[in-house]
Amino acid sequence: MTQDEMKQAVAKAAIEYVEAGTIIGVGTGSTANFFIDELAKIKHKIDGTVASSIASAERLKGHGIEVFDLNNVNEISVYIDGADETNRHLHLVKGGGGALTREKIVAAASKKFVCIADDSKLVDVLGKFPLPVEVIPMARSFVARELVKLGGEPVLREGFTTDNGNVILDVHNMEIMEPTKLEQTLNNITGVVTNGLFAIKPADVLLLGGQDGVKVLD
Ligand code: 5RP
Repeated sequence: MTQDEMKQAVAKAAIEYVEAGTIIGVGTGSTANFFIDELAKIKHKIDGTVASSIASAERLKGHGIEVFDLNNVNEISVYIDGADETNRHLHLVKGGGGALTREKIVAAASKKFVCIADDSKLVDVLGKFPLPVEVIPMARSFVARELVKLGGEPVLREGFTTDNGNVILDVHNMEIMEPTKLEQTLNNITGVVTNGLFAIKPADVLLLGGQDGVKVLD
């Protein structure tokens, strides 16, 4: 099975978590795109979606799936999204696609977060994948200096602006032994909008695709 086939397999498996007659939170990235394509096949069963990025909203609309503004929605039954890294506690690193802030908002507003990933994303210790941090542009240098003090090597994602008009610092060489603590510490740096750690509120379920099929971790 190729990596794309594994992504497709977890995207298909995630359909089991879609409750009829509810609104579904939809993530961003190549795995989430496979999920959107699967969701399109049962679109008549759901009430609509909330998307975590402009790109996902466009893909959903392209399939004729309704996309609501989060402010106009009372409840999201489940949020389905990929990850750049996950550990066995379902703590995640996200934001490789730059959508981390809206992803964290939609995940927070959802009753359940189902993460879908191929097994190359499973690690013992988070941090090999550079940790994305979304920053208000005028605070870029200040935040970068604070990140260096924490032992990281921040690199500006060149030529990239988030859907919220901000920049991303990708922090290299962080061995993240205490994800919850680091998430809190980074949240407390003035000028940081969001960091890509999902540890304070981890995924509730992880569907992990491998050569032997899809494993469920929860
Ligand atoms: C986007 C994300 C994605 O979930 C993450 O980058 C994984 O992407 P892919 O499914 O393409 O491997 O956090 O901001």
